[in-house]
Amino acid sequence: MEKHHVSVLISEEEVSRRIKEMAEQINEMFAGKELHLVCVLRGGAFFMCELAKHLNMPVSLDFMSVSSYGSATKSSGVVKIVKDLDEPIKDRDVLVVEDIVDSGRTLSYLMDMLRDRGPRSLHLCTLLDKPERRVVDVNVDLTGFQIEDKFVVGYGLDYDQMYRNLPYIGVIEFE
Ligand code: IMP
Ligand code: MG
Repeated sequence: MEKHHVSVLISEEEVSRRIKEMAEQINEMFAGKELHLVCVLRGGAFFMCELAKHLNMPVSLDFMSVSSYGSATKSSGVVKIVKDLDEPIKDRDVLVVEDIVDSGRTLSYLMDMLRDRGPRSLHLCTLLDKPERRVVDVNVDLTGFQIEDKFVVGYGLDYDQMYRNLPYIGVIEFE
């Protein structure tokens, strides 16, 4: 692992305040409905758990895991389903919960695949978005924070599987 250190980009307080606001928006969007959350592992797990705690409609959860082959800090665009959902999503109101949209390759593949399964509705929310990096168009319904093109960790995001547990969003600085 290259020599590096982590500095705070978005504090724990800011992250949790924003997640509560996002939950309020989702409560309005899906008022009177049942919501099925689809978490994209592993990065989306911290965000989804925190978000789900503030939702007030009946909520169910499922998880899927995809890997985009590549190095520690770059995705290659080749997406593989490592773990599929346990339950069908046909005729359900589905909200996909992601940690970050970067090039958009992973999400655009995933959303197309999920749409083919016939959900009643399909939306996407992401904690972070790096719009500058977009290669493939993705329709994001709700974004926590737009950030610059920097490699971030924490709140589920990793650098070589490390730092997912940080309670804030940090930025990796290489020395
Ligand atoms: P994509 O480039 O939009 O397909 O993003 C693919 C995946 O790369 C994301 O779901 C993250 O898991 C990971 N990723 C992208 N940018 C970062 C980052 O700044 N830190 C950690 N992981 C990232
Ligand atoms: Mg991810």
